[in-house]
Amino acid sequence: MPHFLDIHTTAPSDLRAMIDSAHAMKSARKGLPMAAPDQDQPLANRMVALIFEKPSTRTRVSFDVGVRQMGGQTMVLSGSEMQLGHGETIADTARVLSRYVDMIMIRTFEETVLHELAEYASVPVINGLTNRTHPCQIMADIQTYEEHRGPIAGRRVVWSGDGNNVCASFLHAAGQFGFDLVFTGPEALDPEPEFVALARGQGVQVDIIRDPVRAVEGADLVVTDTWVSMHDSQSNRERRHNLLRPYQVNDALMAHAKPDALFMHCLPAHREEEVTNSVMDGPQSVVFDEAENRLHAQKAVMRYCLGV
Ligand code: CP
Ligand code: NVA
Repeated sequence: MPHFLDIHTTAPSDLRAMIDSAHAMKSARKGLPMAAPDQDQPLANRMVALIFEKPSTRTRVSFDVGVRQMGGQTMVLSGSEMQLGHGETIADTARVLSRYVDMIMIRTFEETVLHELAEYASVPVINGLTNRTHPCQIMADIQTYEEHRGPIAGRRVVWSGDGNNVCASFLHAAGQFGFDLVFTGPEALDPEPEFVALARGQGVQVDIIRDPVRAVEGADLVVTDTWVSMHDSQSNRERRHNLLRPYQVNDALMAHAKPDALFMHCLPAHREEEVTNSVMDGPQSVVFDEAENRLHAQKAVMRYCLGV
């Protein structure tokens, strides 16, 4: 019974099969209304718990719609209204939920909560974002890159800004899918050295370049994310903004990437902070395709977890 906890802990052949399945499921639904069932109903009679300890628009709606399209049912739960971690141990919650549902998706703070849930659940557990990683997002991003530009292997991806949880999953994907990654941002917000070393150990090039203009030269894809993540203290907001302002993705920066480079952002975006309106709404932006592909990629992840 596989969980989907992170990209670096999932076999590359399984990751590739999930991306291919996501493409196929997306094509098969062309022109159908969102509530129309998929032709196959692999989640028929399955119940999926979606637990949120942090806010969400995309993750919540895309998982819910995805389960329904595949014939299953969902239960959306807010962490604060559960006993999770305060009224009872994570392990006991895992044991109990496993008696009611067939799969659990959780968005939480500490990665230890995700891992404990997975250790004690007897049903698959999916990582819907922790402070440290966001693997479902990057599965959708790989699908999005490939539908626009073909295989991502061998490409040059530039992350500009905070070396946060989404950046971490991009680093994991670099090693697993075989693309090079450049991080450009302030030293204080570098990605975790462990994740950089892991990708390098898998034979891909990972460079840290402080000058954003030099960093984006030759980029096939430029990516950024919010300067203040949900788990970051608001008291550091001004300091983070000051550190990250030089790494804003704007037209001047995009002009140094390859002419056919794409722009991605997992959303929610803070327009005119980490990215300008002109880039978000410009011809290189594929941000809403990324959002749509959360649906298709996660359907593939759920099928992989349930083996259906
Ligand atoms: N990108 C993403 O995970 O969005 P939500 O926070 O809206 O789920
Ligand atoms: N880095 C952001 C991603 C939101 C989807 C956060 O953790 O808040």
